[in-house]
Amino acid sequence: MRKPIIAGNWKMNNTVSETIILINKIKEYDLDNNVEQIISVPFTSLSEAKKLIEGTNIKLASQNMHWEEKGAFTGEISPLMLADIGVEYCIIGHSERRQYFGETDEIINKKINSAIKHNINPILCVGESLDEREKNIQEDVVKKQIVQGLKDVEEKDIENIVIAYEPIWAIGTGKTASSDDANQMCKFIRNTIKELYSNESAEKMRIQYGGSVKPETIKDLMDKENVDGALVGGASLVAEDFVKLINFK
Ligand code: PGA
Repeated sequence: MRKPIIAGNWKMNNTVSETIILINKIKEYDLDNNVEQIISVPFTSLSEAKKLIEGTNIKLASQNMHWEEKGAFTGEISPLMLADIGVEYCIIGHSERRQYFGETDEIINKKINSAIKHNINPILCVGESLDEREKNIQEDVVKKQIVQGLKDVEEKDIENIVIAYEPIWAIGTGKTASSDDANQMCKFIRNTIKELYSNESAEKMRIQYGGSVKPETIKDLMDKENVDGALVGGASLVAEDFVKLINFK
């Protein structure tokens, strides 16, 4: 009953000219429209990407946003600016932002609430480090990120939020969590939403796995009951691979 959702996170890759080439290549293929298709491109490519995806079912995401609408925040991009371009999703709290740019759960929570207010669907990223997994505290870590990240979010807005479980040790490393481990954590996340909200909201929420997802691993992941999609970095930069991920069935 949950629509599968495959999102490509381009990270800091592709100039505007490269964006045009990649999107045009993706458009050469038939994509499975029973799967929600998202590309999350750099801010500089958003406007061009929006024009290129017109007439397709591909939806546009940003990789970050500020929580304020405007003001003296040099170098930042506001939700008003994103909504005006037609951005429908925003990745919030990616581990690279937490790690390299000091984003805390508090900052991430402000962004989540602001995105909701501006009708931008947040993709909230959570996940443990290798050290935390070795200490077997991954569930505590993820639960804290969810509880704090969703503070003050009302139940009516929960179904518009996607949670991406991305264990840090699996991102860009070629090490994927096993599909069973991914499923187990996605199930834990769903149970957390059930505790915080209700069974109904938990059943509606889409939960993705992310971390070295490749065409060879997608089917096994998507077969798991609690994995509703994937957030994909590296493989989303190659049109053929990204298309294979969307057309996983
Ligand atoms: P990866 O990145 O697929 O290159 O591991 C995933 C992500 O960081 O979203």
